[in-house]
Amino acid sequence: MLGSWWLVGLFVAYTSGKKMWDVPPSHTDQLGPGKLRWEPQCQHQLRHLQDGARISAVLLPRLEGHWISTGCEVRPGPEFLTRSYMFYANRLFKAYQFYYRDPSCRDPSYSLVIKGKVRLRQASWITRGATEADYHLHKVGIVFHSQRAMQETVARINQTSGEHCSGFSPAGRTWAPGALYELLSAKAERDCTAGLGFAMHELSLVRVEKYHQPLFLQQSQGSREVEELYLGDIHTEWSERLHYRPTGYQRPLQNVMHHIQPCPACGIIYRADEHHPPVLPLKPDLPMLLSGRWVSTRCEVRPAVLFLTRYFIFHANNRSWEGYYHHYSDPLCKQPTFTVYALGHYTQGAASLIVRGGTELVFKVTRARVTPMDPVTVAMLNSSSFGSCGEAGAWSVGQELDVTHTNGCAALGIRLPHTEYELFRVEQDAKDHSLLFIGERPTDGSSPSTPSKRPTSYQAPLVQCGGPSGALARHVKPSYLGRIGEGNSSGALKTLPWATLLASLAVHLVRWD
Ligand SMILES: *[C@@H]1O[C@H](CO)[C@@H](O)[C@H](O)[C@H]1NC(C)=O
Ligand SMILES: *[C@@H]1O[C@H](CO)[C@@H](O)[C@H](O)[C@H]1NC(C)=O
Ligand SMILES: *[C@@H]1O[C@H](CO)[C@@H](O)[C@H](O)[C@H]1NC(C)=O
Ligand SMILES: *[C@@H]1O[C@H](CO)[C@@H](O)[C@H](O)[C@H]1NC(C)=O
Repeated sequence: MLGSWWLVGLFVAYTSGKKMWDVPPSHTDQLGPGKLRWEPQCQHQLRHLQDGARISAVLLPRLEGHWISTGCEVRPGPEFLTRSYMFYANRLFKAYQFYYRDPSCRDPSYSLVIKGKVRLRQASWITRGATEADYHLHKVGIVFHSQRAMQETVARINQTSGEHCSGFSPAGRTWAPGALYELLSAKAERDCTAGLGFAMHELSLVRVEKYHQPLFLQQSQGSREVEELYLGDIHTEWSERLHYRPTGYQRPLQNVMHHIQPCPACGIIYRADEHHPPVLPLKPDLPMLLSGRWVSTRCEVRPAVLFLTRYFIFHANNRSWEGYYHHYSDPLCKQPTFTVYALGHYTQGAASLIVRGGTELVFKVTRARVTPMDPVTVAMLNSSSFGSCGEAGAWSVGQELDVTHTNGCAALGIRLPHTEYELFRVEQDAKDHSLLFIGERPTDGSSPSTPSKRPTSYQAPLVQCGGPSGALARHVKPSYLGRIGEGNSSGALKTLPWATLLASLAVHLVRWD
């Protein structure tokens, strides 16, 4: 199972479980003057993740219900959108996709209404923990929210679709607010969706997770059930997205009855329809202050099926970074397979002209160490050819070896030195946690090693769990899935000292409600 799909750029590597806490500081010393210190909050967060954190997943889940985005989503392209999907007991569904011009989802361009039928089939053999489904589209309608949106969209459809779509919107027709045009009709055997890059293959891979979000309300403790619906991922390459069958997921939708709180966007998205697209609350653009420690908020899945958690430390003073990629064989990140520790440098960022709200950076990976965490990985590394991955034959479970002198580790797809062209974004969630979005990996398993392969969408966010000095850790509750609510979220809006890019202060002081 250790096939070539592991052979991806460094940011894909991962590992480890209980042992990961035992990474001895002395190993760090060999690499540089600094000692790696696990911030308690980061440890807490990752341990929580590794516990499987009360998360349960159901095979052959019930989709029935209403599921919504919890914020503005970014798809490759980029496309900015929010989603609101309703699944009914008779397997019919009605899905809204609201598209926007801006990365805050405040300027709607058009909305799609998608109707069809979906049937769950069986557990996926490719993506552990996922269920495969068949779907059939009955109708897709589009409502434009401005003349400009209509012109642009009609031009796209004109360019890509054949004669049969020319009547979709005759030239010169002016925008009629509220008018709904039919893009696809199964009955009329007409499909003009291709020009929009539209496909609903996301419905062919499904996973539902449930967990309890602890609440601390006025001295009394309780908890709230949260239900998340993971649907299949969208290919990062525009030309592939109409054909691609998902093997990973998008950011999850949450059940309107069981969503995480607070969620300022949820009510707005829940109430929206194709004529009243959601306009999300204004959020300030945050400067890209990378400094500090960032950790995964959940067990992450990569297309082609890698399960991992990530932990990064960025040092703004010398623009260096360290990253731990803990890889697992299961979708709850309980069975570690290997850990990669990598470090290197990064450049000063510049605002992205392609993805509004994003910052472009270049990362260099110069050193790496690998810790196999199970006998399968040990055997694989042990049998790799001489000089291709550290000391051949020297591997054992839980023991870390440097692979820098062999220019990486061919068996794990780690090549050194390595350069990646990245897209980053910092946001805050409704509880003031700073979230770091790092660019989505190319779906084909390659690495963004040239500027043209730079991502246009993001992976699941990391949460900040410690500042450069540790002082900021006080501001961060180790709460993503853990303790929540000790903070005072009714405080007044504090203004942010707009520090320079990558200055050494992290961003915890801003809030908006
Ligand atoms: C950069 O600075 C940090 C913190 O000051 C230090 O721990 C780290 O070792 C430095 N890295 C390099 C490559 O100099
Ligand atoms: C669409 O194509 C038709 C003929 O190919 C053309 O007359 C019309 O102006 C086009 N409309 C737009 C909006 O580009
Ligand atoms: C690793 O390789 C060495 C040398 O070939 C061998 O002695 C050792 O038993 C191997 N260990 C494992 C776990 O395969
Ligand atoms: C929360 O902050 C508000 C405004 O700053 C204050 O009035 C209130 O007493 C605080 N509540 C708690 C529980 O600290």
